[in-house]
Amino acid sequence: MKTSIIFVTIWALVRAVPGPGVYQLTDPVDHSESPTWDTRNNILYFVNIHEGEIYKYDYETGQIDSIKLDGEVAPAIPSKADPNLLIAGLNRSVVAVEWNSESPATDRRILTTVSTEFPTSRFNDGKADKEGRLWIGTMGYEGPNGLTPDEGVFYEMTCDNFDPPLIKIAPVNISNGLAWNKANDKLYYIDTPTGQVVEYSYNNEKGEISDRRVAFDMNDHIGVITGSPDGMTIDEDDNLWVALYGGGAVIKVDSSSGDLLQVVALPAEDVTSAMWGGPDLDVLFVTTSRYSLTEEEKQQQPAAGAVFAVIGLDTKGLPMYDVDLLQSINDQDCGSDKL
Ligand code: BGC
Ligand code: CA
Repeated sequence: MKTSIIFVTIWALVRAVPGPGVYQLTDPVDHSESPTWDTRNNILYFVNIHEGEIYKYDYETGQIDSIKLDGEVAPAIPSKADPNLLIAGLNRSVVAVEWNSESPATDRRILTTVSTEFPTSRFNDGKADKEGRLWIGTMGYEGPNGLTPDEGVFYEMTCDNFDPPLIKIAPVNISNGLAWNKANDKLYYIDTPTGQVVEYSYNNEKGEISDRRVAFDMNDHIGVITGSPDGMTIDEDDNLWVALYGGGAVIKVDSSSGDLLQVVALPAEDVTSAMWGGPDLDVLFVTTSRYSLTEEEKQQQPAAGAVFAVIGLDTKGLPMYDVDLLQSINDQDCGSDKL
């Protein structure tokens, strides 16, 4: 109780200072990723991919809890029916995980397993669309000798399309950031090694994408920014906020002109993703990694791997959608005949 009062007081003081500010929210983990804001409970979820950990950060109290799954995990998104029922990518499977005080994540269920032709690939990033469909992609194996290319697939998963889910874009290398615009008629998507953000026209009713266009290209900004585009979110003005892995920053990009509008530096080279949250959706939560750093780099970047909060950006985000696949962990209506 005492800790939470101090936390809330510090946070209130921090928010009173004008202009953008970057604050470290958590201790570093190996590879924080896939921040997800639960508007119903004011909770930030994020994952520590290679350790199989899902974290819960309570915005009001600053309390952090975690659970560990057996494998590599990303993303973890609350369900529409029950915020404690998370839908997560685990290796090449999509799983349901029940996480509340009665059920400390012991209840899990595999919903589907994808990409059997690429056994070393794994899920990497995903989000729900307005209808609660899950858009989730994989990446090829990335080891000491680099990435196995062309082994990623970007899927759309619904109750009617579980096994296998629909393939939306393939092949890709590292399926990464995605975001829908405010009018919900465009989808922005990143395949990290391409260095580009691409835009598709989006048909919400059918869940279809078409008319691919390059919205932003790192090659147009050589000497100004470095690294590769990774996770991404969007604000209420339809500007994209893109994490730069290897670039130590989150950038703000005009989604229609491709103009680079702002560079927000982070004290970590490998910035993995960004997501709006807080009760007013005006805090940009940013995840980072220390996974690929040398021992020397880890010493130079002691905060690498932490989650940061950036405030004072003079804009706010659009609420995230929840996944609408299962009503409960035992719901047999969705895909159960194929499990
Ligand atoms: C993945 C990492 C990968 C990085 C490259 C991240 O989203 O989780 O495994 O190295 O993207 O940009
Ligand atoms: Ca990512």
